[in-house]
Formats: sequence, C-alpha cells, structure tokens
Amino acid sequence: MVKAVVLGAAGGIGQPLALLLKTNPRVTELGLFDIVNTPGVAADLSHIATPAKVEGYLPPDDGLAKTLTGADIVVIPAGVPRKPGVHDLFKINAGIVHDLAVGIATTAPKAFVLVISNPVNSTVPIVAEVFKKHGVFNPKRLFGVTTLDVVRASTFVAEIIGDLSKSPNVVVPVVGGHSGVTIVPLLSQSSHPLPSSFASEKLEALTTRIQFGGDEVVKAKDGAGSATLSMAYAGAEFAAKVIDALAGKKGLVAPSYVHLDADKEGAAVLKKEIGKELDYFSTNVEIGPNGVERIIPLGKLTEYEKGLIAAAVPELTTNIEKVSCYQRPR
Ligand code: NAI
Repeated sequence: MVKAVVLGAAGGIGQPLALLLKTNPRVTELGLFDIVNTPGVAADLSHIATPAKVEGYLPPDDGLAKTLTGADIVVIPAGVPRKPGVHDLFKINAGIVHDLAVGIATTAPKAFVLVISNPVNSTVPIVAEVFKKHGVFNPKRLFGVTTLDVVRASTFVAEIIGDLSKSPNVVVPVVGGHSGVTIVPLLSQSSHPLPSSFASEKLEALTTRIQFGGDEVVKAKDGAGSATLSMAYAGAEFAAKVIDALAGKKGLVAPSYVHLDADKEGAAVLKKEIGKELDYFSTNVEIGPNGVERIIPLGKLTEYEKGLIAAAVPELTTNIEKVSCYQRPR
C-alpha cells in the first residue's frame, strides 16, 4: 500500500512519470498536483487497469494539501526547464520548490521526497532548509534525482561496447552533483569495462558527453524544452527503488544527491576522499525502509577521476552556498 504523489504532474516530465508510476504494481494511490490540467491527466490515467487509484488536484480549495495527505513518496518535477529566454532556472524554480516543500512539511512531513526540479544541486538544499524551519528535516528521506546521468552513462557505454541489449545491465556510478562539471562518471568502476583500446581522449569525450548529455536533447528539441521522456524513465526507475525499499526490500543501491548527515560514518570517509567538508554530494547510497541506510564512499579512483572530482567541488560548493542567502521573494 503506497501512496505516490507527483508535484508538477501535468508537465513534460510529470505526465510520463505519472504514467510509469501508475504502472508500478506497488502503488495503490497516485496523487497528482499541478497549477494546470491535473484533473484531465488523472481522469486519463485512471482508466488504466492497474491498482493505483488516481486523483488530480489544482491549487484552489487546498489542492496541494489534498494531494499530499497520506503520501509515502513525493516526486517533484515542477518548474521551468531550460529553454530560450530562461537564463536562470534557480531564480524561478527555487520559489516553486520552496512553496511545495512548505506543503510537504505541513501535510506529509514523513514522506520520502525526490527532487527532480533543476538546479538539483540547489533545489535539494532549498527543500532541506524549509524542512529545518518546520522542524521536520530528516536527511535520510530527501533525495536529489540524478538517475538520468546514470541512465545516460549506461546507454553510452553500451553503445561503445557495441551491444545496446546490455545497456539495462550496465552500471556506472555517477557522483558529485547534477549539472555540467559537477557530474562525475566513474567509468573505471563500470560493471562493463570499456575496451582496453579506449584511448584517453575518447574517455574525455565520453565523460563530457555524459556531463552535457542534456544539451543534446535541448538542441534537438530546438526551443521546446529539455529531456522529459528519458527523465520520466529515470525518475520512475529511482522512485521504484525507493518504493521497493519502503516495502521492506533490502540492499538497494543507487546514486543520489543527498545531505551527508544521512549517514555520518559513511560521509566521514567520503569527505576525506573529496577533500572538503561539503553538506551535499551525490554518491551511491543504500536505501532501506527508513531511507538512506548507508552512504557509500567513492572507492578507488583513477588520477583522471580525481581531477574531475577536484573540478566539481568548487562549483558544487557555490551551488550549495547560494541557498544559505536565499530569501523567498514575496
Ligand atoms: P514543464 O514546463 O514541461 O513542466 C513543469 C510543470 O510544472 C508544468 O506543468 C507547470 O505547470 C508545473 N508547475 C509550475 N509551477 C508549479 C507549482 N508552483 N506547483 C505545481 N506545479 C507547477 O517542464 P519539464 O520539462 O517537465 O521539467 C521540469 C523540471 O525538471 C525542470 O526544472 C527541469 O529543468 C527539470 N529536469 C530535471 C532533470 C534531472 O535529471 N533531475 C532532467 C530534466 C529536467
């Protein structure tokens, strides 16, 4: 019995994500909230013959609170994506995520919260700050969704190996953060090693492709927005792991951008590896019924990967510190 909620459910990511959650057999209730169109999306999805009872709400008459009541897991893809004319996602999305976080803190403070809205490096700290103000912050239950970086890395590595049928089984840890140079694929730890003939300049090109994979989609969509379908797939994959964990499944591991207080022991090792006292970082985490059970350190890195981490840390620090002086505009 799991109630899943999508905030921003009528959007490019929200709709296919809601569809995929509707097909998750463990989901028995699906709550959809957006500022437009959710009754229509909910009516449409409600005809699919799977267990979840679907309800869609809009802001009037306490729609957000109605959607969130009883939520076990809340996924947030609300906000503007990259497109022409939108230069600062933080400026717009920080406010949207802030207000939704207030709703969660007051109505579903124990829910697992999965943040998709960009810039994830900063929107996750925004949610944490709101929860702290409301006295309900539990770092084990807050996740920045970085799965799309992992999905892209798996696909691109399978392409290089020359066998796309292997892509669902290719696992590449992607750590750091979730934008540009903060995205650090640990290709040396790929479950399917790259061919030994793979030259260092090819490795650099592959790393850049994973870091800036989103640009390929933005360019191809030619002004219409950023990744939606692949993001919905990735979001549903991560949400399914969290839902399985809620149902008591153990040993589930996935990278996620988390507050490092979620596991202080694991974080102490990780902080030594990265050489900085950061509060947030994306790394493999073990997820269990209480949320983050374990923060898994990076392990053995190549010199090239150490350089990538060193380049990611200052940018990540700026993205996190930005939130400390954030004031919600009235
Ligand atoms: P979209 O514009 O298609 O959909 C966003 C939805 O949010 C719209 O339906 C809009 O009405 C809704 N919304 C706006 N303000 C709201 C509010 N206050 N409450 C509830 N809903 C609200 O955008 P798209 O393409 O779905 O992207 C959504 C977000 O996801 C963007 O911030 C984008 O940058 C991010 N994203 C994150 C990725 C990741 O890997 N974490 C990958 C791709 C996109």
